Amino acid sequence: MGEMGKIVEQADELAEAVNIPAEAYISADYARAEKDKLWRKVWLQAGRIEDIPNVGDYITYDITDDSVIIVRTGTGADDIAAYHNVCPHRGRKLIATPAGQRNARGSRRNFICGFHGWTYELDGSNSFIEHEEDWQGCLTEHSTSLGKVNVGSWGGWVWINLDPDCMPLADYLEPASSMLDPFELQNMRTRWRKWVVFDCNWKVAMEAFCETYHVAATHPEFMEFGQFRGWGRNQGLHSHIGYEAPKGQEEDAAKLRLGAGEDPRITTAEMQNFTWENANTNTTRTLVDVANRLKDELPEGTPAPEVSKYWLTTARQIDEDRGVVWPTVDPMHTAKSGTSWQIFPNQQIGHAVNNMLCYQARPYGDDPDKCIFEAVVYELYPDGGAPETEWEYTECPDWPPVLQQDFDNMAQVQLGMKNAGFRGAQPNPYMERSVASLHYNLARFMDGAGAPRKIKD
Ligand code: FES
Ligand SMILES: [Fe+2]
Repeated sequence: MGEMGKIVEQADELAEAVNIPAEAYISADYARAEKDKLWRKVWLQAGRIEDIPNVGDYITYDITDDSVIIVRTGTGADDIAAYHNVCPHRGRKLIATPAGQRNARGSRRNFICGFHGWTYELDGSNSFIEHEEDWQGCLTEHSTSLGKVNVGSWGGWVWINLDPDCMPLADYLEPASSMLDPFELQNMRTRWRKWVVFDCNWKVAMEAFCETYHVAATHPEFMEFGQFRGWGRNQGLHSHIGYEAPKGQEEDAAKLRLGAGEDPRITTAEMQNFTWENANTNTTRTLVDVANRLKDELPEGTPAPEVSKYWLTTARQIDEDRGVVWPTVDPMHTAKSGTSWQIFPNQQIGHAVNNMLCYQARPYGDDPDKCIFEAVVYELYPDGGAPETEWEYTECPDWPPVLQQDFDNMAQVQLGMKNAGFRGAQPNPYMERSVASLHYNLARFMDGAGAPRKIKD
């Protein structure tokens, strides 16, 4: 813990300008070292609890060379187990990932290895070995059962950790978990989920979404709706970003933003429709519909804070009437929590009271120039009203246009960083502090490799 304490202390002082060498993004040696030093040490978001509702339901999660089976073992909230996805007999991967799929998913009474038929119960114990007597009593429970992986749940997700000596999940996630708990993320369900393989390092992909500095140049359309300056803050292992919302705005204003034009009734509707059509996230149908009524239901000249209040109060009531209850979050807390959290190392949660947008990026084998990228949009649904969704492998033209604008930067950043003339990244010390945070914390796990350097002492 001493070492971790030091890391956090250093990472807390991220107001200074730093330079981040390209090594962590482009070095094949660094990518190979990440497997042991990073991916086998950290808590990873591996799936959603509602993906395994019934006893025997399972999903798999692959991370570099490792694969984990996550299975529901009982009806209790925490009756979830995770196992190394490998048969202890001669090492066959127990559950294969179907070609073209993100992960395996199904339901079993037990797991039977396809090679020689060794069989494992949901608790991981071995229940069948053909010709067991040939081993002359040498096999033990330990040598024949599935290897256990640490597993926990928070926010409606299943988290796994391959390190048998890892810190508890609850400690690892702080302070992000405490800050996000009031948003009741566990009650949200998937609206859509897509994945793709990108030509960039996983960090390049994550860093395309952890700052608001890029909005003006990458998404110029949004500038019509008004500009709020965005901050980034380090929070130990994690970090978050947010907007400085105009004074007097109610409730979730930092995320459910009002259009800041001449007539906020009209610009809010314009911004909501644009967001719905071009990003398919960060809002809900109810919010869009109510925004479209603002100009008929409020007099011209209604001040922005009142437009905001009417918009959100009306939408909240309409949702409540159909059984969709937004949690009530103190506006001070909303402002403090910001708009999205980077959970170290590779999970981003863009939260709000009624929807969220999450990203994850994982390495693609040992290749530093590729990653598996995924995005999921969640929202609140009435009981039993959530749609059935599957992971859709989606190539670039079929993603929402706003996200494609972000994607367009990624491969070009990866190429640029390999240029002999690139002198290291220089993130904005105020708006892009999440980038520095990631690399300070990574360097801890990577024995100092790739650590940010202060530009000035
Ligand atoms: S490798 Fe699984 S039963 Fe032989
Ligand atoms: Fe963006």
